Amino acid sequence: MERTLAIIKPDAVKKNNAGDIIAMIQQAGFKVLAMKQTRLTPAQAGAFYEVHKERPFYGELCNFMCSGAVVPIALEKENAVADYRALIGATDPAEAAEGTIRKRFASSKGENAVHGSDSVENGVNEVAFFFSESEIAANNA
Ligand code: CMP
Repeated sequence: MERTLAIIKPDAVKKNNAGDIIAMIQQAGFKVLAMKQTRLTPAQAGAFYEVHKERPFYGELCNFMCSGAVVPIALEKENAVADYRALIGATDPAEAAEGTIRKRFASSKGENAVHGSDSVENGVNEVAFFFSESEIAANNA
């Protein structure tokens, strides 16, 4: 079993698309280990996306991720990281395949509805960024 972190981003939360996105995730066979709606501080967004610190879009990305509520979701499934990335589609919605979450809900590379972990190691670390092991255990006892 693998873990991956989904985040429903502020654009999708504002448009009331969170429920439809969660339904797509669950229908694709992912187990929701933990989930919450929260608002990131600039420091949290900066830390979460630190790997992109040198990229030209880092500031814009952090500002956007703080612009409204987000819904982080800890997911579990066999092959969760790759399967979830396939479900969400390409970063740029113009390149996202039919039937993917980003094709349906994203409007640009920045406002692209959802985040997904990009490796098995990051899946574990990003889940831990938002959820404690005791919280996950209590949810799934
Ligand atoms: P995400 O999966 O959250 O991981 C990093 C994010 O950076 C990515 O989704 C995009 O939303 C964002 N991103 C990548 N490229 C660009 C870009 N050229 N302009 C703005 N944001 C970008």
